[in-house]
Amino acid sequence: MTTVSPTPPPTPVHAALPHPVTPPQPAMQLRELVFGAARAAAVRAAARLGVADALGETPATAQELAALVKAEPAPLRRLLHALSCYGIFTETPDGQFAHTEMSRLLREDDPNSLRYISLWCTEPWTWEVWPHLDDAVRTGESVFADVHGKGFFDYLHQDAHESAQIFNRAMTTSSMQSALDVAELLDLSGVTSVADIGGGQGHVLASLLEKDPALHGTLMDLPGVVARADARLRDEGALVDRTRIVAGDCREAIPVQADLYIIKNILEWDDDSTRRTLRNVVAAARPGARVVVIENLVDDTPSMRFTTAMDLLLLLNVGGAKHTRESLVTRISDAGLLIGDVVPVNAYLHAFECVVPG
Ligand SMILES: C[S@@+](CC[C@H](N)C(=O)[O-])C[C@H]1O[C@@H](n2cnc3c(N)ncnc32)[C@H](O)[C@@H]1O
Repeated sequence: MTTVSPTPPPTPVHAALPHPVTPPQPAMQLRELVFGAARAAAVRAAARLGVADALGETPATAQELAALVKAEPAPLRRLLHALSCYGIFTETPDGQFAHTEMSRLLREDDPNSLRYISLWCTEPWTWEVWPHLDDAVRTGESVFADVHGKGFFDYLHQDAHESAQIFNRAMTTSSMQSALDVAELLDLSGVTSVADIGGGQGHVLASLLEKDPALHGTLMDLPGVVARADARLRDEGALVDRTRIVAGDCREAIPVQADLYIIKNILEWDDDSTRRTLRNVVAAARPGARVVVIENLVDDTPSMRFTTAMDLLLLLNVGGAKHTRESLVTRISDAGLLIGDVVPVNAYLHAFECVVPG
């Protein structure tokens, strides 16, 4: 008769696979890279399940977290272990999970939350266009209409309402976070009026008006966007008396006079739109007016990996592009602006200080 030894308890995953301390070899790096979708999907799953919100300041087991987020404990443990390999959550020696700086950013209530950005960058339509990147590289054109039968923004607003809401929340988070950095950076001495062209809901403008109580400002964007302007800038808002809102297409005309024009994260579309917008600023502005163009750059930035990924996604969805420092300098100069300093705004944005020639 054979004796059957009792099944040993499962070895904790963290004990069996200590986190690597040395960078992996090239072959392993490539294996990891081609599984990039698994990483993005794991972050998306954690954000959708709300695991980071469920985890408090004390470590918790997968079992406890599973009960809170209504998931199965074993697969949740696998998900959390996969994420902790990349520093999103960490496993304690007794097999519990605790927050890290990165996992806290998935919380909805974190002041620097990236929850909606994480969801936006992994929305269902992104998984449908990425496999066509080779086609986009061959043709230099967006693949969105081929995949979805219509342009990106039409699809978003007509067929993907949930995605459109995520988009709005992601853009709001992103622009509120960078607006404070822009307001801190910009020297407003001698400036009495500022115009934010393609300024979205006006977070940058509101931050500047809050910084300088004597400043007046104009927000220009498309009608549907300015209709949802930041509450500080309209109705009974605290800054309404110093704000003018202009609904219009900056590729057609920019009917705004100001000492300082801001053009932030809009020159990412086709070249013709970029040229027309910059020329319209030059046509509208008085000689000596300042124009500050703010963009992510695909080179010369600590955020190169992130920006190049956005650049490829822009190619896929709207046929747009992020700039190199040189490509932006060329377009700004071609429009007739004089370029001064190029300075970092934060870890991922650069400001090009320009002047309208006399
Ligand atoms: C990526 S968002 C940037 C918003 C804002 N500048 C910021 O950095 O937070 C691009 C903005 O350009 C605006 N936009 C796009 N086409 C435009 C046009 N033809 N005229 C004016 N604004 C436009 C969009 O509505 C959107 O608010």
